[in-house]
Amino acid sequence: MKISVIGCGYLGAVHAACMAELGHHVIGVDVDAAKIQQLSEGHAPFFEPGLPDLLARAIDSGRLSFTTDMSEATGADVHFLAVGTPQQQGSYAADLTYVNGAVDALLPYLTAGDLVVGKSTVPVGTASRLADVVEATGARLAWNPEFLREGFAVGDTLAPDRLVYGVRAGDEASVATLDEVYAAAIARETPRIVTDFATAELVKVSANAFLATKISFINAMAEVAEVTGADVTQLADAIGHDARIGRRFLNAGLGFGGGCLPKDIRAFMARAEELGVDQAIGFLREVDSINMRRRSRMVDLAIEVCAGTVVGKRIAVLGLAFKPDSDDVRDSPALDVAARLAELGAFVTATDPEAIETSRRLRPTLTYVATAAEAVANADAVLLLTEWRVYRELDPEHLGSLVAERAILDGRNCLDPAKWRAAGWTYRALGRP
Ligand code: UGA
Repeated sequence: MKISVIGCGYLGAVHAACMAELGHHVIGVDVDAAKIQQLSEGHAPFFEPGLPDLLARAIDSGRLSFTTDMSEATGADVHFLAVGTPQQQGSYAADLTYVNGAVDALLPYLTAGDLVVGKSTVPVGTASRLADVVEATGARLAWNPEFLREGFAVGDTLAPDRLVYGVRAGDEASVATLDEVYAAAIARETPRIVTDFATAELVKVSANAFLATKISFINAMAEVAEVTGADVTQLADAIGHDARIGRRFLNAGLGFGGGCLPKDIRAFMARAEELGVDQAIGFLREVDSINMRRRSRMVDLAIEVCAGTVVGKRIAVLGLAFKPDSDDVRDSPALDVAARLAELGAFVTATDPEAIETSRRLRPTLTYVATAAEAVANADAVLLLTEWRVYRELDPEHLGSLVAERAILDGRNCLDPAKWRAAGWTYRALGRP
């Protein structure tokens, strides 16, 4: 099929490359000329395992190209909307400027029979509004939310765990077109839910709201564990054995960040308020608060370990990305804690395997170094804030020979406390004695 992908950020760039990998002919469109230049040369503008290879293969095959010129979307059978929906300035609501702008820019190039497919995460009600506009051209609209995780984006896109198609009642033609796009997944009997626009939009936000709630639930248990001497990691293992609960997404620690979970629960709260059902999801406010309190708790722990003040103390921060295998620092708990400690007067030296440049753009005044060894040199305390494998595998003896004080704060509950304590370290963590 001929496919256009409007918006070449995390979602769009991966989607475009994966669609080409599946054999479709794909044109990726974005207003950012620098990004398009990079992608055209086969370079991923962000760190995503597997993406550079996929891009190179797709471009070499002649099935994938990129442009800033929307007119090149003309003639595609399917146009995916993959632009961002960030949080509005000064409000919890989603900013739909890019979605509306993409549709307006695409309209002149649509022809009867084309299918426009929304993938962006939008407030419920958006698809129905956009469908009216798109249908005026003779084209159709479907909403097909995306569930990819950063760090696993290629695998999640090529082999999704479910497909959700939101379409107008009785729109069999759009269903058939989407089945053709996703023929490989359909052949593997990937579960496919065909539904209305509102349900499709809500599936996406409710999935992220559920995941955020699960994380904040275990972090709430961590708060209780901290005052009772209980161990939240053992608690999570124990309740996780109940198949109804499940162990995944029950890792207590510094909490969730990134470009999705935080802004999606906030946009959901804002939309629910507009719809007059804010009471129904009022608990998300608590989910958000629990999450933000973990960052404050980490700062307090650092102060405690530094004997009451971090002023003039050398603090090493290992990990800046919002999670491992990503260079994304949008709303990153790790970068936030690093910045707060620097503001409190600590000499913070931070490192991350991939996220130094992205961090520098957001927090130019922090001190960044390339390796953990450099970061911990003469440190009074070491904070592990993103559980990259290289940090999980650090040797307490070797690290101990580099620091001023053997004090480590495990913000992700990813180290073995016994091993670190045996090497003479003061080991502190969130929700764990
Ligand atoms: C999330 C969802 O998992 C995807 O399904 C969804 O498609 C995506 O948002 C999106 O809306 O586009 P992502 O933001 O890549 O994906 O990251 P997650 O793997 O969900 O992690 C989010 C945050 O939660 C990270 O900061 C991570 O460290 C934290 N987390 C995760 C925990 O604190 N504990 C856990 O047990 C799991």
